[in-house]
Amino acid sequence: MIPKAVVYRIYGDSLAVVMNVKTRRVALLQGQALQLWSDIAAAGPSRPPDRGHPLYARLVSLDLLGDAAARPPSAPDGRALAQQAQEIDIGILNMWAFKNHIPMSGHFELTGRCNLRCNHCYGLFATRQDTLSTAQVFRILDDLRDCGTLGLVLTGGELFFRKDILDILSYLSEQKFVVRINSNGTLIDEAVVRALHDLANIYRIHISLYSSEPAVHDQITHAPGSYHKTVRALHLLQEAGFDVRINCSVMKSNVDTFQKVRDDIGDPMGIPVHFDSEIFPKDDGGTENLVERLDAQQIQEFMRANASAKTQPYKQKLCKAGFSFFSICEDGSLLPCLKMKRLYRSPLGQLTQRSFREIWQSSADVLSIRETITRELEGCDLCSLGI
Ligand SMILES: C[S@@+](CC[C@H](N)C(=O)[O-])C[C@H]1O[C@@H](n2cnc3c(N)ncnc32)[C@H](O)[C@@H]1O
Ligand code: SF4
Repeated sequence: MIPKAVVYRIYGDSLAVVMNVKTRRVALLQGQALQLWSDIAAAGPSRPPDRGHPLYARLVSLDLLGDAAARPPSAPDGRALAQQAQEIDIGILNMWAFKNHIPMSGHFELTGRCNLRCNHCYGLFATRQDTLSTAQVFRILDDLRDCGTLGLVLTGGELFFRKDILDILSYLSEQKFVVRINSNGTLIDEAVVRALHDLANIYRIHISLYSSEPAVHDQITHAPGSYHKTVRALHLLQEAGFDVRINCSVMKSNVDTFQKVRDDIGDPMGIPVHFDSEIFPKDDGGTENLVERLDAQQIQEFMRANASAKTQPYKQKLCKAGFSFFSICEDGSLLPCLKMKRLYRSPLGQLTQRSFREIWQSSADVLSIRETITRELEGCDLCSLGI
């Protein structure tokens, strides 16, 4: 009855957020709509829903319930009721989460291991085993679900290097998370694509590609043949109907040819390409990978070339780290954002030892971020910022 592509969270007895990952529609349920949703979710597929409920057809029309036989929603009598099941813009949801410190979304580094060794990578590849066991990952996901997290960006390392990755992805689908994936694509074959497709909760997949010239890409990844595997993954994912994006870090090794990723691959395949010239130091503060950073003149040329290309207009954005966004590192440490790895001498806390809720509500660092930024934002028109 609740389609597999529908993910949701119920926030106490005040509201629920429900999203159809396939159609991208998001709705806020309150009052009777919330009660109806809670009943349907608790009953499971075996017990028939109350089709006579005045809001049942409304939920079907919002793509939240799959029922071809439902009658059309009634109007105008139902207008006041319909307010209790409103389609909303994702920005409004993000604003609500920001103001109420709901950890709506975050990054989760599922592993520090990887099958490639890219020149510019900040990863340390220090362990031969994944630091977090399957059981630990599941427990952290349970914690996040109970705290209201709906969206996760899965990253690494290379998450498809984990032997239990399909179990983890299935668990994420069962627990109704909406998922974005960052991957190098080399381990994504037909079987993986079929499994991802069956899950139905994958919002988007970002694949890293550094050149349209195999030799340049493979020189960056230190893995002969990786270019062909990555491009094959792009084709497989696109044919299966996924929302796919290409991420391309621009560095010394590909600065002369990076635009061909868009011209030769992205544009012909209809896949958007995101270029980024920022290169961060290694996770332990090491700077050996910074030899790949562009010099000042190259950055200027990169910015000129990027600005003249068809890109989205720049919109100021409010950083959500510590308010409604968090990051979990491969060893289970919790940070406001992965970019803060080198900024903090210690993480907000360790999720292998303490619950997410406890750290999110009481870490002195996170409370201080909230206090400082809230003070800075006093009198500011938050609504004019993208969030
Ligand atoms: C760390 S990787 C993890 C996911 C996956 N292994 C991949 O390569 O897409 C995520 C993204 O970070 C980028 N990246 C790696 N090291 C970086 C660095 N030092 N600075 C900025 N971006 C980096 C990669 O190019 C990739 O697009
Ligand atoms: S594939 Fe990703 S995690 Fe692996 S080395 Fe390259 S950038 Fe780092």
